[in-house]
Amino acid sequence: MTSPLWQRGVTGKRHMKKPLFYFFSPEGNKIPVKAVMRALKNGGKSQAVAFEPIRKLLPAKYLFYLSSGRAALYLLLRALSRIRPDRQEVVIPAYTCPAVASAVLKAGLKVILCDINLNDFGFSRDDLAKKVGSKTLAVVLVHLFGSPADIQFPRECCDKYGVYLVEDAAQAFGNSLPNSPESRLGLLSDAGFFSFGRGKPVSVLHGGILATNLEEISRHAGDLMNTLNHRRFQNQRYGMLLSSYSIFSTPYLYWIPQSIPFLHLGETIFEPNFQVSAGATLAASLMAEICNGIENEKRVRQENTRWYYGNLGSTPHVQSPLNNGFPYLRYPLLVRNKNLRDKILSRLMSRGTGAALFYPVPVNELPKLKELLNDTNVYPNAKQLSDSLITLPVHSGVTDSIRAEIVEIIKKSGY
Ligand SMILES: Cc1ncc(COP(=O)(O)O)c(C=O)c1O
Repeated sequence: MTSPLWQRGVTGKRHMKKPLFYFFSPEGNKIPVKAVMRALKNGGKSQAVAFEPIRKLLPAKYLFYLSSGRAALYLLLRALSRIRPDRQEVVIPAYTCPAVASAVLKAGLKVILCDINLNDFGFSRDDLAKKVGSKTLAVVLVHLFGSPADIQFPRECCDKYGVYLVEDAAQAFGNSLPNSPESRLGLLSDAGFFSFGRGKPVSVLHGGILATNLEEISRHAGDLMNTLNHRRFQNQRYGMLLSSYSIFSTPYLYWIPQSIPFLHLGETIFEPNFQVSAGATLAASLMAEICNGIENEKRVRQENTRWYYGNLGSTPHVQSPLNNGFPYLRYPLLVRNKNLRDKILSRLMSRGTGAALFYPVPVNELPKLKELLNDTNVYPNAKQLSDSLITLPVHSGVTDSIRAEIVEIIKKSGY
């Protein structure tokens, strides 16, 4: 049972709004000790060998391994800028991870926000048609929650003006279009990138991959890779991060990092000055180990999605996502209004179920980023999603009793 420790009498406060302690982190990312041991043992292997299992899941002609997903996007945008130096604008969704905006800004380019749609959480067609033009360098389409956003209409908009279409598949590693396992998300456009940070389908706390089939992009990205500073003691630093994570992410100790303010666990913050370097070899070995279990993990996510769907599908005050049985990274549930959403979320969180908010506001309303973007437009669907969304855990740490508790709280809260 994954209830917070305070229920077991540790703090004695039974009716707190926010849990002090979780039995597992809401992202669920357990890094199996066995996988770490094997990765350490294989640490001497070359990166090319370590990457074999990853290549099978990402059959693109060119792959570049960097320190994070945002670093991969940054490198890509710099490569695209070299090819089209006359273009400065990059279109991104108004509801997405702020790291996407930070990569655009760090590359010296201009962020253009576009509203989303509430079906597949991809771009709003009407708004995209207005935002793409002859100044646009790239459109970055995001497969939010790991589920496929429509790619056809963005492709048409991009083709009209000779714009690069990029897929942000940070949350979608290993996922494909429904009924088309060969059509891997992240490999359906000019270039795509993936993240292996916290809360991702394969999470090793480090690393991002840029994938492309286009030789011209790969040539420039390769040149830029060669200019990156080599981080000293990168494997050692990574090893230390991993050790502290594996200790503190255990159920009884997760409250320690969670209560350290500067770690910002579970918060969405804008970080403009991120590091860009090649990825650590040890993390690549660990990714490769964890990749071996990804099909199993996907089956669990599919099964949990089906279960929530079956049990919440007819609940009047919530709306389930479109693709029943898709291996979502988290199950996106829309609640009828913000007050009810806040009430349900607070109950779910106070029980330590692993249910969580996603990004709290549209990109142009996020502190720090707000001042930099200076975009006072309202993006109605982005706003609505940020006001109504709760994401439910579907990972393999979710037990039958957690699922049942989540559904019970949601159903009861509507009345
Ligand atoms: C949709 C999306 N894009 C980009 C990123 C950036 O990835 P990273 O944290 O590895 O830089 C993330 C993850 O935080 C993400 O969720």
